[in-house]
Amino acid sequence: MDQLVKPHGSDTLNPPFIADEAKRAELLKEAEGLPKLLVCSQAAANAVMMGCGYFNPLQGYMNLADSLSVAENMKTTSGLFWPVPIVNVTADVSGIKDAKRIALLDPNVAGNPVIAIQDVESIDEATDEQMNSMAEQVYGTTDMEHPGVKNFMGVGKFFVAGPIQVLNYSYFEKEFPETFRTAMQIRETIEKNGWKKVVAFQTRNPMHRAHEALVKIAMERVEADGAVIHMLLGKLKKGDIPADVRDAAIRKMVELYFEPNTAEITGYGFDMLYAGPREAVLHAVFRQNMGASHLIVGRDHAGVGDYYGPFDAQEIFEKDVPAGALELQIFAADHTAYSKVVREVIMMREAPEGHKKEDFVFLSGTKVRAMLSAGEDLPPEFARPEVAKILMDYYQSLPKE
Ligand code: ADX
Repeated sequence: MDQLVKPHGSDTLNPPFIADEAKRAELLKEAEGLPKLLVCSQAAANAVMMGCGYFNPLQGYMNLADSLSVAENMKTTSGLFWPVPIVNVTADVSGIKDAKRIALLDPNVAGNPVIAIQDVESIDEATDEQMNSMAEQVYGTTDMEHPGVKNFMGVGKFFVAGPIQVLNYSYFEKEFPETFRTAMQIRETIEKNGWKKVVAFQTRNPMHRAHEALVKIAMERVEADGAVIHMLLGKLKKGDIPADVRDAAIRKMVELYFEPNTAEITGYGFDMLYAGPREAVLHAVFRQNMGASHLIVGRDHAGVGDYYGPFDAQEIFEKDVPAGALELQIFAADHTAYSKVVREVIMMREAPEGHKKEDFVFLSGTKVRAMLSAGEDLPPEFARPEVAKILMDYYQSLPKE
């Protein structure tokens, strides 16, 4: 490989972010006089992702026809490959009816400042049937217990479509200055490091030994020059570990257990969808945009509960992603765990003959939480002690239930 993978859908990243300070000030001034819409958290996160170049080549929110087409065929009506509708959906359009240009207010920052300005091309109201079919196609379910479905179905049915001008990156820059990065910045870092083949690791968890080994195994197998650990910094469901704690745990792990200068620790400003396979494809699109040649997709990638089979997120790339739609490749990893026989973390399908299930050290997320809340150390085969300590301090700081 002579050069980095190209962005999705265009030769260079072309984000709708207003980088020029004077222009930004001018637009903020204009926003004062525009009709305003307080958007939902997901719409704000979509603006951040577009502004960061991660959702290249999108320049704004999809209309209902594109959303339906993307949900059904993973393609917009004009034929762009895209796995998940990127939308600004709201329940109340009374304040923006007939408006051509509106200011979008950020629900996640105190005082609800303007995050972007949108040219309103259309406002369509979806039917219940259309909402249900999109949820079914994207999330595989219409169950309102599913956290992603609940978010998608719970905010309204009006699709406010049109291009945006993004004015800031919400709370991410301020809250995670060391970790939050745009796709442009990550491409720059990769180039500065002189890396060509780059493995991206998606995560919404602190990294345990299985995660650490996954990254190392993937790097070795694809002969990567480096890895970009790319953690989600946006909203999660209740019970998931907050980003600052995960960040600290991952930094410690990389500092102590990775060769120097082989892994970059970075993050992106998006809320978790828990859309399993479809979210894995979205992950692949935006890792290509940031310059990664490979994305690790392991067991139950972006899953929640029992909604998806453990390897559905790998199968979708074989079955439903058309050849040539993406330049990035996935590294499809098997379930990984510490083997007491081999005395290291391995992929289960590569265990030596005669290896039994009981020879692996498994701990469910629920068990890990229970142990840390009770002040019990995690086994060193499961978590690095320095990582376990950070997590223990966090769980011990929570009010007891
Ligand atoms: S995710 O929602 O971001 O996918 P998580 O942070 O737990 O959740 O996982 C990050 C990546 O590691 C995903 O690709 C997931 O499939 C993979 N993964 C996590 N744990 C394991 C494991 N024990 N074996 C194989 N893959 C795993």
